Amino acid sequence: MATIEELDEQAREILRRNDRGGYSVPTAGLYPYQWNWDSAFSAYGYAEFDIDRAWTELETLFSGQWDNGMVPHILFHQADDGYFPGPDVWGAQGHGPIDSSGISQPPVAAAFARRIHDLDPSVGAERVGALFEPMLKWHRWFMKCRGESGAICITHPWESGRDNAPSWDKSLAAVDASNVGPYVRRDTGHVDASMRPTKYDYDRYIAIVNFGRDNNWDEDVILTDGPFRVADPTMTFTLLRSHRDLSYLGQELGRDTSEVDGWIEELESGAASLWNETIGAYDTKDLRTGEFGGTASSASFLNWYGGVENGVALDTLKQFNAGTKYGVASHDPRLGSFDPKRYWRGPVWAVVNYLVGSGLGSCGHMQEAEKIRQDTAELISKNGFAEYYDPNTGEPAGGGSFSWTAAVWLSWASPSAGEGN
Ligand code: SER
Repeated sequence: MATIEELDEQAREILRRNDRGGYSVPTAGLYPYQWNWDSAFSAYGYAEFDIDRAWTELETLFSGQWDNGMVPHILFHQADDGYFPGPDVWGAQGHGPIDSSGISQPPVAAAFARRIHDLDPSVGAERVGALFEPMLKWHRWFMKCRGESGAICITHPWESGRDNAPSWDKSLAAVDASNVGPYVRRDTGHVDASMRPTKYDYDRYIAIVNFGRDNNWDEDVILTDGPFRVADPTMTFTLLRSHRDLSYLGQELGRDTSEVDGWIEELESGAASLWNETIGAYDTKDLRTGEFGGTASSASFLNWYGGVENGVALDTLKQFNAGTKYGVASHDPRLGSFDPKRYWRGPVWAVVNYLVGSGLGSCGHMQEAEKIRQDTAELISKNGFAEYYDPNTGEPAGGGSFSWTAAVWLSWASPSAGEGN
């Protein structure tokens, strides 16, 4: 088995290899563009060995910000036939300076900007000074365009990052995909189809994209008539955490933080609407029907990352983790819909482990935090830098040489990491 030093070097090498000049791809082939939350994680990984490059990653991400404040989930910097759906399917040209998708992704950028700032505040103050207003504008967009229920919702499963999580099953079933027509997927040319969403899911993903494109990504129309609107713990708790870190950065910079401080209070009370007593965990909620998704997922345990304590959730997390060799499975291993290899329907993701584990640690739950960090370290050191892992066998799944897994290793899971130790 490789030594810690060798693994650290492999991780740095993955980030360097996935660097396309100012931004990183998540992995070559499967994801050939800049993805929003992948990039924020990559920035944190770079910060372990190249602070300047870390800031550049975030700056490139915000260079794609739309006029309305949205920061897209994909920036199509260079054409690439290996990915579907590309810029023509999204039809979002003209909304921002760079061709992009028409939806966003979990807002972890400000939280990582704070951590990168604190690693070297003299460089950080200058670089974050220029990003503060764009980050504030993005957070304002979330509160205005995704915040009507008090919690933060998604308008497409891709917006949550957890594409095919069972959390969306009931809401996706209500999406009419009868007019989607033929299309050719590219993902299953890179990765075995058993590890990816099904055609049934993809038909609905494309139907929702078509709705946005046909309505010129008008947020008012998407709010009133969009086919999918589901409040989500991933969005809610990552935004809450990022609001807190943005407020901290604003204070460091001597800026006015009253607006973001108000959002923190609003979101703290809005997050409570996602508590599902029946499952003892934070849950998704369909804003069209008012119904909970009804299943716990790894995202249910992001409340500590958002700075929200909950003793019942901690008990549920322990039971949840007892169901698999490695925590935290992306879907409840006690349920029949659990599938240990299929993307967000069971596999463990190092990035969510970081968010859950570091959140638990910052709330003083050291034992649970350390278990998750050690599981993550073992998964990576035994099975490489995979996109995700089978939570029972540890087998790597999805894409390989993955940027955000390398970043999580360098910044948190590795025994030599800055944050975990
Ligand atoms: N995760 C999606 C994909 O697999 C897009 O964000 O293509």
